[in-house]
Amino acid sequence: MRHLMSPLDFTIDELYDLMKLADDIQKNRSKYAKACEGRTLATCFYEPSTRTRLSFEAAMLNLGGNVLGFASADSSSAAKGESVSDTIRVISGYADICAIRHPKEGAPLVATSHSGIPVINAGDGGHQHPTQTLTDLYTIRSLRGEIGQLTIGICGDLKFGRTVHSLINALVRYPDIRFVLISPPELVVPSYIRDDVLKARGIPFTEVKSLEDVMPELDILYMTRVQRERFFNEEDYIRMKDFYILDKAKMELAKENMLVLHPLPRVNEISVEVDDDPRAAYFTQAHNGVFIRMALILTLLKEAGSL
Ligand code: CP
Repeated sequence: MRHLMSPLDFTIDELYDLMKLADDIQKNRSKYAKACEGRTLATCFYEPSTRTRLSFEAAMLNLGGNVLGFASADSSSAAKGESVSDTIRVISGYADICAIRHPKEGAPLVATSHSGIPVINAGDGGHQHPTQTLTDLYTIRSLRGEIGQLTIGICGDLKFGRTVHSLINALVRYPDIRFVLISPPELVVPSYIRDDVLKARGIPFTEVKSLEDVMPELDILYMTRVQRERFFNEEDYIRMKDFYILDKAKMELAKENMLVLHPLPRVNEISVEVDDDPRAAYFTQAHNGVFIRMALILTLLKEAGSL
């Protein structure tokens, strides 16, 4: 049974195939309209979500399949103390594939050992968010033609940001990638990314505090939200929440073809005045999430022998 816990679960060649399939789905929607007829996706979300849950559900509905699930721990039997292991054993009898989001790191991995169906990690705590990374890679490839030869600035909460950790893990496998990591000192990337991934692989990177200073050198700026839900105290969150605000003045410092990405939701870190800038690609990115998730559902169901 193949699951998706990390973007590294797919080889570069498999990612290429997945993106090609997403391209074909995007261009030939009707060809796939019944591809998952009679199959069911379960979305088990123990944490809030708009994009991930709804794009998974849209993806399965676009493939002619069915969806069921819950949108919060409170509306499931987790509120009565049921374990993730028991829940997935039960869901395995109701659905053909399952996407799980959970506030605890590793919870989707625990689910895999009790599951009879493919499990997709839809975000686990501050750890990984592999389907966001598939969306990010697909967007970069769609808008830049290829993934490689890029200076990528990642700005904001690099400590707790699971989208950041997954994206760095995935991008280091592509040629000539250089990172500029922009954060307050309290929110720098964890050592398991800096030492075990970047330094271990000899990937060039710098860690800086000022966004303005590095804007001119970036090919992609990946903004992230300072996440209130990951802070242990409100004072620290309030001190750091508006540390970076991307506005028109800062965009004037950037290359003409720099892309601005953001996994969304945003709070204040990108001013709405940037939305009309042709370099702002974050809403396209969110839309792309449907196509790459359609490709993922198809691929995992085929590998599980369910299609
Ligand atoms: N990008 C992302 O994971 O958004 P949601 O939290 O709305 O799913």
